Amino acid sequence: MKIHQELTKIVYDTSAIDYIKLLAPKSVCLTSDPFMIKLGVLAPFEQYFNSKGIPYKIFSDVQPNPSEALVRKGLLHIIETKPDVIIAIGGGSAIDLAKAIMYYCIHIKTEFMSIESIHKPIFIAVPTTSGTGSEITNYTVITDEETGAKRVIQSELMQPDVAILDVELTMSAPGSITADTGVDALTHALEAYVSKLRTPFSDAYALKAIDLIFKNLIPAYENGNHKESRQNMQIAATLAGLSFNHAGLGINHSIAHSLGAIFHLPHGKANALVLPEVMKFNLKSPEVVNRYDEIARYLGMNFGTPEINAKALIEGIRVLKSHLNQPGKLTDLDIDMNAVIRHLPQVLTDVKADYCTVSHPFAVTDEDIRGIVMALV
Ligand SMILES: [Fe+2]
Repeated sequence: MKIHQELTKIVYDTSAIDYIKLLAPKSVCLTSDPFMIKLGVLAPFEQYFNSKGIPYKIFSDVQPNPSEALVRKGLLHIIETKPDVIIAIGGGSAIDLAKAIMYYCIHIKTEFMSIESIHKPIFIAVPTTSGTGSEITNYTVITDEETGAKRVIQSELMQPDVAILDVELTMSAPGSITADTGVDALTHALEAYVSKLRTPFSDAYALKAIDLIFKNLIPAYENGNHKESRQNMQIAATLAGLSFNHAGLGINHSIAHSLGAIFHLPHGKANALVLPEVMKFNLKSPEVVNRYDEIARYLGMNFGTPEINAKALIEGIRVLKSHLNQPGKLTDLDIDMNAVIRHLPQVLTDVKADYCTVSHPFAVTDEDIRGIVMALV
């Protein structure tokens, strides 16, 4: 028996504050980041809470992959004040923090406390970038502050109840963030479409996401005020999130996670760097060639055999990347061959341990990973 179920209500074509007003919360916990406060994104929320006398607490010192200490602080606040709504406004990190708080909150509730002593708040995720898909997925990453180790948690307990797609909140994202996050979303959909765990439902989400990204990412990058392309990118990122929430990802993300951590690269840029090489490598699987052929034909690239179409898709991605000023090689980011060779053993260890490797369409060896990484120099 197979079951497909979506657990998150998607609210779009509205402003986030209008939906919150409809919800009329009694007490709110809000996670965000300092940049959002600086941009004034939280101001309308605070005005509304103040005007209605709604108690609220903001956790804004969010770093990428929030620390366990911050999660504990948020958790304690939830237990003490029992807000009926938790709102995460920001990029992936603000939403990741709220997810971790929700996860431990429900765990504590079910394992240690009476059913009345704590209640599950409604969890609302409001993304301000179009890429991570965090508003719709049940993954989070938190950091052990002592060892620096990153811990991935996956659980339905942290699936947002509501994702609000408010396009106005994405309009101020600069070009480089628009490009990085947009290619991240594209990588989610491409990896989900060939994943070992794919389903007909994840396929449908992924194809539509890829189509929207090919049509809208360059216009959104070249003119950040172009509302229609911003809106389409926001929907594409959520669709891509839906696809990999069911199908998982692959070694593109595993390698990008490792290179990103070693060389301090933004997540989307690391994915963009690796993407054409991993796709080229994946052509060794006839099954993946057929899947890439399906994507290419969906995008209107029908030039002949499945092999030709699959290669055309990879070429299309190289062209897209060059329009977005994304790096082609590690050396474009001033990372030299010696540094890459020195860190190769770490990359191999990381990729083997990464949860994304499990759903790659076929098994990979150390030699395969070494070949992909060295082709990036
Ligand atoms: Fe990603």
